[in-house]
Amino acid sequence: MLLNEYELNQSNLEKFKYLMSNLEKEREQNRHTILIVDDEFDNLQLIKRTLRRKYNILTASDGVEALEVIEKEGNNISLIVTDQRMPKMNGTEFLAEISEAYPYIIKMLLTGYTDLEAMVEGVNKCNLFQYISKPVDPGDLELIVSNGIDAYELTLSKNTLLNDLRELFFTTIKSISSALDAKDTYTHGHSHRVTLFSLILAQELGFDDAYIEEIETAGLLHDIGKIGVPEDILCKPGKLTDEEYEIIKQHAGGAKKILDTIPSIQHIAIWASSHHERWDGKGYPNKMVGEEIPLPARILAVADTYDAMTSNRSYRKGLPHEVAREEIINCSGSQFDPAMIEVFKKVEDIFRQAAIDPVKFYNEYSRLNKSIEDKETAKVTEQPQEA
Ligand SMILES: [Fe+2]
Repeated sequence: MLLNEYELNQSNLEKFKYLMSNLEKEREQNRHTILIVDDEFDNLQLIKRTLRRKYNILTASDGVEALEVIEKEGNNISLIVTDQRMPKMNGTEFLAEISEAYPYIIKMLLTGYTDLEAMVEGVNKCNLFQYISKPVDPGDLELIVSNGIDAYELTLSKNTLLNDLRELFFTTIKSISSALDAKDTYTHGHSHRVTLFSLILAQELGFDDAYIEEIETAGLLHDIGKIGVPEDILCKPGKLTDEEYEIIKQHAGGAKKILDTIPSIQHIAIWASSHHERWDGKGYPNKMVGEEIPLPARILAVADTYDAMTSNRSYRKGLPHEVAREEIINCSGSQFDPAMIEVFKKVEDIFRQAAIDPVKFYNEYSRLNKSIEDKETAKVTEQPQEA
């Protein structure tokens, strides 16, 4: 019995030790890392002693050595305290060098009272958080560094919040687009396919990812004005009356009214609402002519027409690629921007393949999916780093 109790106690003790060491490891991993740069050994040691209780400390004895530390550990460093007067490279030179690549690291400069020039340089080039006057008072230093770490955490959480909002925005857009596609049963998947064809054209045009992402958003939302069109008109299988056609046409202008309520995407609202404008000025809703039509809307127009012609409707089968292709090329200069048709000719074979497997191609071309996926991956792989 006694032996068992002893064994039990021993195993509990082991368990306790194990938990404590894990807790300690976790605490270590969550600590902020601070880089101290100073050529005076005693000063460096004093700062290190003052801060090491709460933070992981890295040290360097001059700017050049500090750059080497930054190269290896830059992403793990929250704050830098650097002396101004050092051989090889002074404090402001060192901070200016890393300022662009590491804007979020909180930067502090140790200066003498007379070092006015360094202070001005610090403001202009290094985005300094604070000066610390020499000689260093450990109590003051602890407080200043703690304020700096608070500012660092605030910036981090602000960025996380912005990313979360961005993700929410994209997810909402995709849901709206899917809801639209579901509402219009005859053109099932239309918004996503139009977006896909627009992405293919935009990529061929060589736009950067941020602009392509906006074109993708415009594609997903281009028919959002159809929310206001009665379903019996939207889903009417036969020919529309003139009056019904006029109602359908209102969806273009309707897109702008709906999207205008979001200030940050007003330009996208204009692109989306202009997808039925024609190069020759005979389109709607504003009869824009030629280059008056925003470029993304000219992309959407080609993508929209290609999908309208090639996709199956319940009352008719989609036209073959060759027929749609010919018709689109024939409308160069009348319905479509001739320059855009030249791009279309280059990628028409990708259109043909994408129409067969739009889901696969959409995943390949989508920038929105990628930016959300990247964030998800970052969440999974984000591990606290040991300094
Ligand atoms: Fe439309």
